[in-house]
Amino acid sequence: MFNIVLILFGVLVGSGYGAQLPPGFKFGAGTSALQIEGGWNASDRGESNWDRYLHLFPDTIDGNGDVACDSYHLWRRDVQMCEEVGLDMYRFSIAWSRLLPTGLPNYISEDGKNYYNNLIDGLLEKGIEPVVTLNHFDLPQRLQYLGGWTNPLISDWFAEYARVAFSLYADRVKIWLTVNEPQILCDSGYNNGTVPYINDPKFGRYICSKNVLLAHAKAYRIYDKDFRHLYHGKVTIVFLFLWLAPATENDTEVTNLARQYIEGRYGHPVYSKEGGWPKELEEILANNSRNEGYVQPRLPPFTEEEKELVKGTFDFYALNHYSSLLVRKAKPGEAIGKTLVDGIEELGIVLEADPSWEKGDIKWLTVHPEGLRQQLNYLKNTYNLSEIMITENGFFSSNASLNDVRTVNYTRKYLEQVALAIQDGVNVTAYFHWSLMDNFDKGYDAKFGLYAVDFTDANRTRTPRLSSRYYSKVIKTHCTDPEDY
Ligand SMILES: *[C@@H]1O[C@H](CO)[C@@H](O)[C@H](O)[C@H]1NC(C)=O
Ligand SMILES: *[C@@H]1O[C@H](CO)[C@@H](O)[C@H](O)[C@H]1NC(C)=O
Ligand SMILES: *[C@@H]1O[C@H](CO)[C@@H](O)[C@H](O)[C@H]1NC(C)=O
Ligand SMILES: *[C@@H]1O[C@H](CO)[C@@H](O)[C@H](O)[C@H]1NC(C)=O
Ligand SMILES: *[C@@H]1O[C@H](CO)[C@@H](O)[C@H](O)[C@H]1NC(C)=O
Ligand SMILES: *[C@@H]1O[C@H](CO)[C@@H](O)[C@H](O)[C@H]1NC(C)=O
Ligand SMILES: *[C@@H]1O[C@H](CO)[C@@H](O)[C@H](O)[C@H]1NC(C)=O
Ligand SMILES: *[C@@H]1O[C@H](CO)[C@@H](O)[C@H](O)[C@H]1NC(C)=O
Ligand SMILES: *[C@@H]1O[C@H](CO)[C@@H](O)[C@H](O)[C@H]1NC(C)=O
Repeated sequence: MFNIVLILFGVLVGSGYGAQLPPGFKFGAGTSALQIEGGWNASDRGESNWDRYLHLFPDTIDGNGDVACDSYHLWRRDVQMCEEVGLDMYRFSIAWSRLLPTGLPNYISEDGKNYYNNLIDGLLEKGIEPVVTLNHFDLPQRLQYLGGWTNPLISDWFAEYARVAFSLYADRVKIWLTVNEPQILCDSGYNNGTVPYINDPKFGRYICSKNVLLAHAKAYRIYDKDFRHLYHGKVTIVFLFLWLAPATENDTEVTNLARQYIEGRYGHPVYSKEGGWPKELEEILANNSRNEGYVQPRLPPFTEEEKELVKGTFDFYALNHYSSLLVRKAKPGEAIGKTLVDGIEELGIVLEADPSWEKGDIKWLTVHPEGLRQQLNYLKNTYNLSEIMITENGFFSSNASLNDVRTVNYTRKYLEQVALAIQDGVNVTAYFHWSLMDNFDKGYDAKFGLYAVDFTDANRTRTPRLSSRYYSKVIKTHCTDPEDY
């Protein structure tokens, strides 16, 4: 029976009728507060680090999040869009500084609280499950002044904020994502690559890595202890992971190391049986630190207690995936500038796209759908995972056209690979398209949206693209290549 299913499946995929996602598979779309809400100074909202940076240095980034998609006022339309597409789930984030204007729970904003209550209730009324990210890059500016993610106290500040959010919303929100993409938050944000543009490439990202993991773990433990028995929800952290494949047969070891650096530095402490940093990586970075004359390793060690705190703090694996890269050893004497993934150059590793892969609209975002299937299998096997959700996947388009054929093609091919991974035995239970609508993405050039947004119109009018009709049909049929959309 199983073999027949596989053969039929292969025939279907091969013949261009697409693949079938299993019954019960959930389809969603995602956004984040800073990218869509606007209303940056509405009511008593506190200032975020993005507000501060973009107001101080308006020329660095084209535009800011002051209004964005104006979802602070237009959330009813957002819910309506989710309903039009037929989404099972909608992933959005809470702006920490909207709920807790001082950053700390001494004061909870009544308007902030109600905004998310309305959004959550609005979704539930339409039968759409809310999925909430607690931190999607934006941080109260006050906490940024105090060092942000490099201040060890942040794990407690975050845990207190998480407790407030759980207390207010966990009766209705069953899926919680603590921190989004530490790979960007830490590795780019504390290496002058994005807000807060802290330029400390040696230490910043590694201190941040540890603090993010402790913050996540403390929030998870709070849910476990005080909320799980009441609401039976799920909590995890979101990782961004481009699939990494060896450039040649001689690059398998460095590929393993690159995976440790990019995914394992975050995933191993949470998902592995042993916990803590990946051993080899920790040793190399400690050696590098010693050779540079530092007394302490730049990647701060975990105490045994911290290792235990972080280990096992997941109810499923949340994966953001967009693309793949090839990994190779740097050639002797090769000058490695900043590569596509910040920091990895200290391991003598070069990452580059395969020239044969279809190019996207930005350099590193090539189209290599098979990479997703390989990555899902890799993660499942590495950590013996029993459930994975793809919390982001989408095509980076800079073409504002409503006829977004490339996004449709990208989504179809990636969803086919999800179906194949499920056939391989990986339990992928949900897929979230990034994004529900065009939004602020260090400017307004990125057109990721199922809906186009007119940013010149005060009403921020949203118009469905071809991809939204395509996705809607996929959701109805569970087939990746439906007819007539
Ligand atoms: C809010 O910010 C906008 C700029 O985005 C400004 O024009 C407006 O005056 C501010 N409102 C308040 C109440 O500060
Ligand atoms: C940090 O990045 C900004 C924006 O890209 C750039 O203008 C600035 O020179 C960088 N600072 C350092 C110290 O590299
Ligand atoms: C791999 O390394 C071996 C031994 O150094 C060499 O002979 C071979 O050409 C290398 N393969 C590739 C694809 O570079
Ligand atoms: C780190 O340095 C020690 C002492 O020099 C050495 O024995 C060890 O092999 C090094 N580890 C790695 C992974 O390079
Ligand atoms: C993998 O997880 C399953 C439960 O999901 C468990 O039964 C099995 O023993 C685990 N395998 C290993 C090697 O730990
Ligand atoms: C996949 O995970 C879901 C949620 O944990 C579970 O209900 C389901 O039984 C799993 N399916 C398989 C095939 O393991
Ligand atoms: C944008 O997409 C439209 C519709 O698919 C296409 O006709 C047009 O050539 C594209 N423009 C660019 C610059 O790629
Ligand atoms: C989209 O996919 C279809 C079917 O495979 C193909 O014919 C078409 O050329 C693709 N369009 C683009 C813009 O990639
Ligand atoms: C914006 O919305 C208002 C109120 O719904 C409406 O009167 C107005 O015509 C709209 N403007 C545009 C440009 O769509």
